[in-house]
Amino acid sequence: MLSPDPPPTNDRLRRALYDGEIFLLDPTPASSRYAEIARSLLHREFPESPDLRQAHEAVSPQEFFLRVGAVRRELYLDEAHHALIYELAESLGFNPRHIAFDPVRLRAVSHDGHLNPAAKAVYYGHRDTWYGHPSCLITWWIPLHELSPEETFLFYPDRFDKPVPNDSETFDYDDWVSKGWSLKIGWQDPEAGKKAHYPGVTGPVDPGPEVGFACQPGQNLLFSGAHYHKTREQSLGTTRFSLDFRLVHLGDHAAGLGAPDVDNRSRGSALSDYVHP
Ligand SMILES: [Fe+2]
Repeated sequence: MLSPDPPPTNDRLRRALYDGEIFLLDPTPASSRYAEIARSLLHREFPESPDLRQAHEAVSPQEFFLRVGAVRRELYLDEAHHALIYELAESLGFNPRHIAFDPVRLRAVSHDGHLNPAAKAVYYGHRDTWYGHPSCLITWWIPLHELSPEETFLFYPDRFDKPVPNDSETFDYDDWVSKGWSLKIGWQDPEAGKKAHYPGVTGPVDPGPEVGFACQPGQNLLFSGAHYHKTREQSLGTTRFSLDFRLVHLGDHAAGLGAPDVDNRSRGSALSDYVHP
């Protein structure tokens, strides 16, 4: 189901993504370097955990959140890292003058993380587009470690072009960022996940077959932001770190191209806050 080979041209890659194809591609020099940078920043924050996969064991959940948040902030805001996104995009034929992106976010999913009420939204089934993104959104995900399917997430391809009952209409991007970007990037308030409302499923869903995947560090997973997917809960005694960012081809957006948009009613647009050419 996940394709290991990109189409021969960038036009066809984008078209395939908008048609629901999911690509899990080999590491590239840029993705490997990005993963290495993130790991070294995490090592700086967790000197007591030479194995980052055990980083959650050495500190309290609150301290863990704050330390991960420091790295998350640095990776998101430091423009030196934006060059790597252009390099990644160019490696798959994107013209840097034609794309806008929401910078990289570091994610941590830990052992029993689903039991933390402040993290509950992390495990919601969702489409990324429900957060005020356009239907031509491309999500790009890079793991920092080798991961088994139990530690990644699940896609539900049958739902790609069929509605899922949801309350995305309660999400207003402009409200969300009106009090600063701390909530959006998630580095300051460990309790924010309890206070903020994140769009989720509101009724029964027949998700159809689920598609999971294993991966190697630095691989490039690309999928349409309209895919319905869900992070897996895990109690394996490990933490997995990953990077992801969001990309929009501005020509496609202007031309109204993109994935089927069957149930996204979120308001406002994150696109204006992307990094533009
Ligand atoms: Fe997502």
